[in-house]
Amino acid sequence: MSFLFRPLKIRGIELRNRIVMSPMCMYSAENGYPNQFHIIHYSTRAYGGAGLIFIEATAVEERGRISINDLGIWSDEHVEAFAHLVKTCKEAGAKVGIQLAHAGRKAEDCPGWERAKKKRRGSKNSIAPSSIPFGKNWEIPKEMTKEDIEEVKKAFVKGAERSVNAGFDIVEIHSAHGYLLHEFLSPLSNKRRDEYGGSFENRTRLLKEIVRGVRKVIPDSMPLFVRISAVDWVEGGWSIEDSVKLAKELKDEGVDVIDCSSGRIIEEESIKEYPGFQVPFAERIKRETGIRTMAVGMINSLEQAEDIVGNGRADLVAFGRKFLRDPYFPLRWSKRLNIDNLIPWQYKRGFLS
Ligand SMILES: Cc1cc2nc3c(=O)[nH]c(=O)nc-3n(C[C@H](O)[C@H](O)[C@H](O)COP(=O)(O)O)c2cc1C
Repeated sequence: MSFLFRPLKIRGIELRNRIVMSPMCMYSAENGYPNQFHIIHYSTRAYGGAGLIFIEATAVEERGRISINDLGIWSDEHVEAFAHLVKTCKEAGAKVGIQLAHAGRKAEDCPGWERAKKKRRGSKNSIAPSSIPFGKNWEIPKEMTKEDIEEVKKAFVKGAERSVNAGFDIVEIHSAHGYLLHEFLSPLSNKRRDEYGGSFENRTRLLKEIVRGVRKVIPDSMPLFVRISAVDWVEGGWSIEDSVKLAKELKDEGVDVIDCSSGRIIEEESIKEYPGFQVPFAERIKRETGIRTMAVGMINSLEQAEDIVGNGRADLVAFGRKFLRDPYFPLRWSKRLNIDNLIPWQYKRGFLS
């Protein structure tokens, strides 16, 4: 008996299993539009058996891109291309989610593949809660005014509305990995003195306002996920206790799943990655708040994934790099477990022996 391959219903959406393709930037878009690459890349993983495909970080504002090759949904013109992508993945039996994002002080205005080679990183137009750069060779971001904050809020809400129009099943708000919303949460990057900085209540205000705004424009039947960095891995930074408290509040605001990643708020952090290193965060948040969680990070074996779901440590398991290496691992795992309804009929002969 498998726990990983059991369906899960969240609000009006039923996932065929608990296997999720984690959002991963592919730096292959122009002007934000998904193209033929995205259609093939994502639908292949959908035919590969994922229950839920998350489309990579998709910018809600043009200035909020990690690179000029990010996907974006900052205009109504983007909707049609996303609708085609979503429809293609759904035809393969997967549900499709979009990760709405704003890069904040980590925004860059060069091609994705050139970012790491640059001596001075970042963008001269980047914005952040405070004018503190991500690292020593990074541009100093502009401290956001109240008007900037209002604009960003509206951009997330419009992005969610457009996602509904494009036919997405699920919306995830990206509040992790040192991008804009995480920058507001963490005391390391947020030194504001107004109602958006200082106390826990103030630092979490923007995320909660965005969640509230998004929940209002998406249908009641549509699940809402939030990805957080459960800890900053830095002394004096955001802690797991903060995450538990935030998760409780987000649950009350209508968030359905906390997607538990970690880190990336400052350049000098040191994360020791090992198999399942972030699972304890998903487990604790789930246990202490009752909200559903998604585990991610170096989860690579069937046994590991079954342990996570079967022992109630998380409800969903997201796989990142494994899906890049091998789009078909869910099919092979289902074969090992004698589950015969996941393999597309066209591929059955490849799995006979
Ligand atoms: C190429 C690449 C791009 C990524 N882009 C995103 C992204 O757009 N949004 C996000 O939240 N995480 C992103 N991540 C992090 C992954 O979603 C995932 O959390 C991480 O790779 C750990 O999982 P894994 O060990 O299964 O790969 C990216 C990771 C990779 C390898």
